[in-house]
Amino acid sequence: MQTSRIPGFYNMTVEERRELLAKMDTFTEEDTAYLFSKESLSMDTADNMIENVVGTFPLPLGLGLNFLINNKDYVVPMAIEEPSVVASASHIAKIVRNAGGFSTEATDRVMIGQIQVVGCQDFDAAKKTILHEKDYLINAVNAAYPSLVKRGGGAEDLDARILNEKTGSKYSQMLIIHIYINTCDAMGANIINTMVESLAPTVEELTDGKVYLRILSNYADRCLARARCVIPPDLLASDGFSGEEVRDGVIHAYEFAASDPYRAVTHNKGIMNGIDPVVIATGNDWRAVEAAAHAHAARDGQYGSMTEWSKDEEGNLVGELELPMSVGTVGGSIHVHPVSRIAHKLLNVVSAQELAQVIVAVGLAQNLGALKALATDGIQKGHMALHSRSVAIAAGATGEMIDVISQRLIEANEIRVGKAKELVEEYKK
Ligand code: MEV
Repeated sequence: MQTSRIPGFYNMTVEERRELLAKMDTFTEEDTAYLFSKESLSMDTADNMIENVVGTFPLPLGLGLNFLINNKDYVVPMAIEEPSVVASASHIAKIVRNAGGFSTEATDRVMIGQIQVVGCQDFDAAKKTILHEKDYLINAVNAAYPSLVKRGGGAEDLDARILNEKTGSKYSQMLIIHIYINTCDAMGANIINTMVESLAPTVEELTDGKVYLRILSNYADRCLARARCVIPPDLLASDGFSGEEVRDGVIHAYEFAASDPYRAVTHNKGIMNGIDPVVIATGNDWRAVEAAAHAHAARDGQYGSMTEWSKDEEGNLVGELELPMSVGTVGGSIHVHPVSRIAHKLLNVVSAQELAQVIVAVGLAQNLGALKALATDGIQKGHMALHSRSVAIAAGATGEMIDVISQRLIEANEIRVGKAKELVEEYKK
């Protein structure tokens, strides 16, 4: 089993980190060649992925370390431009690891396809007919994608609702059919769209209405993943703050987000700071994950916190995150983008359910990282400490010198490469 504990990884040069990766059995020479080449996404591949291509837009790819989830170690690939995110996730993952790790679970991967029917003479009768013909419709929709059924997936259930029933509503009445489709390890957008499109003529016949939209719903509320951590307060103590103080600060921060949408949006943005980079690195559709996550945060009628933080009877800090997680390990651009192929190998997940669980665990860690910093020193201290390290490295500091120069930059309150160069020269003397 690979370990996700690589002490001192952040102090290594990029070359040293790459050498370490290249030694992992997981990778072939071709993999590492792609990962380390200047053009990891070739212009040809890019040109086949989207339209009007003129170039590519690379992002830094970092590794989230220390993740122990359901007793399995994960090295988490994260593609993101924002400093501190990878460091903060790894820092919290280490604390949670020392508390026994994250526990996670996921529901079956059931996605929703929607069919909109308008203009029925009698909407109640149309709804009844659809529900009455449920089995027939499920079989018909499955016939449109037999390979999915062969893999153990396919349409499992069906539902129908009438929207805008009240007379006087400013919108037209419509019948909305939901087809619940298990997409196995695929995110499933294309599968679902093909399936629901195939059903439209039959639905028109049965309802005497006109079908307009036939499309998946990105609100994948039957494709959920959950992560939980329980942390004894002594593991939270830091820089003059007791563990209890940190724990209580995190809970107050959560309560703020739970009560105020203005704070909740920023709080949740911090969670997505952890989630999006993994979704992106694994070649998944992060807009779909974002849209569903925010809808889930508003499911009670008011936009609130995606996470929940509380204290258990022993005084431990308990964190929980549940989100729709429509990600796949096959299909889409996952095996088209060479770096996403490698990211999957690195993560070493066997199913989309497992990937979804890793992603919510990273989101939970990221949230705790932000709340812990915000409720104690504020986030700028950590940002500046990290920034000063990069500046020290840019000025030529290596090994032990990095810490010394970085500390002197902070003390001098001058975090710039010019100053760092002076300090490096002084140090060498
Ligand atoms: C910054 O990218 C994210 C935070 O603002 C999140 C938060 O406030 O919880 C630090």
